[in-house]
Amino acid sequence: MQRNNCTACHLIDKRKYGPHFTEIAARYGGDAKAVATLAAKIKAGGSGVWGEDPMPPQPQVSDKDAQTMARLILALKP
Ligand code: HEC
Repeated sequence: MQRNNCTACHLIDKRKYGPHFTEIAARYGGDAKAVATLAAKIKAGGSGVWGEDPMPPQPQVSDKDAQTMARLILALKP
């Protein structure tokens, strides 16, 4: 995640630009489809789920890396 610059906007437990990773995990943690949903969102970007700020698309991230990062984020569920 540091390599892909995610931490420029997301921290583990504090809000910087987007939602922080622990609150994403709390929101999606119980959802069996969450890895696929979040992996797709990581690559495509988007807005409107957490507020006005958009997340830019991350086309340089491979499908495999996006899924790995989605799993890492979901593993933070409190
Ligand atoms: C320029 C700032 C920025 C960067 C860089 C960025 N994000 Fe985001 N991210 C955001 C914002 C803003 C949102 C909230 C979007 C919304 O409300 O729908 C978000 C939302 C998310 C979500 C939640 C999606 C949802 O539907 O709830 C995940 C997961 C995520 N980002 C992961 C990542 C990962 C992994 C990376 C690195 C590859 C990354 N982000 C890079 C700003 C950023």
